[in-house]
Amino acid sequence: MNKNKSGHGLATGKIILMGEHSVVYGEPAIAFPFQETTIKTLVEPDHSMLIDCTYFSGKLTEVPAQLKSVREVIDQTLAVLHQEKAQLKITITSTIPAERGMGSSAAVAVALVRGLFDYFDAEYSPETLLQLVDHAEKIAHGNPSGIDAAATSGEEPIFFIKGQPLEKFPMNVSNAYLIVADTGIKGQTRSAVSDVAHLFEQNKQQAAKHITTLGHLATAAKQAILTDDIQLLGESMNAAHEQLKALTVSNTQLDQLVDTAKKNGALGAKLTGGGRGGCMISLAASHEQALKIADALKQTGAVTTWIQSLEVKK
Ligand code: MEV
Repeated sequence: MNKNKSGHGLATGKIILMGEHSVVYGEPAIAFPFQETTIKTLVEPDHSMLIDCTYFSGKLTEVPAQLKSVREVIDQTLAVLHQEKAQLKITITSTIPAERGMGSSAAVAVALVRGLFDYFDAEYSPETLLQLVDHAEKIAHGNPSGIDAAATSGEEPIFFIKGQPLEKFPMNVSNAYLIVADTGIKGQTRSAVSDVAHLFEQNKQQAAKHITTLGHLATAAKQAILTDDIQLLGESMNAAHEQLKALTVSNTQLDQLVDTAKKNGALGAKLTGGGRGGCMISLAASHEQALKIADALKQTGAVTTWIQSLEVKK
């Protein structure tokens, strides 16, 4: 192998349109890679085995869970490559806000696997990539459904059911814009997922009702997209947010942003990802409306907003 070579890996952030949390219990979900945000890895020969992360805005020790999963995915990937003794410097650069429900932990794992395989000029199958990322996600999130890994490693929207073959899902809705807003507060995917599991243990009937309803709403949203019914898509999003609230995974800031979006003409609004902080999404029927909503969300406290067209350019 050429020791002067460097390896490069890339992954995007992700947005869950519908079905977070219920996806862990086998219900369907819709997600897409969010190209506005990316993670890049650079792998170079070096004796230091240094991991330089601009992703974590400072020292790696500040985020032990993610540090552990970063180390784990590197070790596991080197083992698969039979390169356990490799001496490398790995630089991770990210524009995905960390711990905001945008899939940063899965994306960093995807970009690391890709960077390491590229460095060693080796091929990998999609299954190998997902297995390695899933392993790291178990450390970061406890009980991942696999949706983050699938969305951050892909190029197209997906209709995802845990354990089933990946279904690509071309999203093409006329005059539909998604406004993504970051509360600026760290999301708590791990504790939210584990609290939903506790709810399930304590009151199975009640929790199962919310989870099944979320699944039905994801299926309704799929139908709405296929029939270009933006009103129905918005209604499904609103209803999903109420179910997620009942599962205790929203918080005051997310609820405030959801209300603001609706008051400013959004057809639907909900939290996205693990919740209890992180990001929310809302749906607008025109770019002008989307700009108005984004502005109102910023005035209500959103630290960043993005506008994404759901219309495929022809
Ligand atoms: C996190 O982005 C999505 C959750 O449904 C957890 C998972 O699916 O692994 C909350």
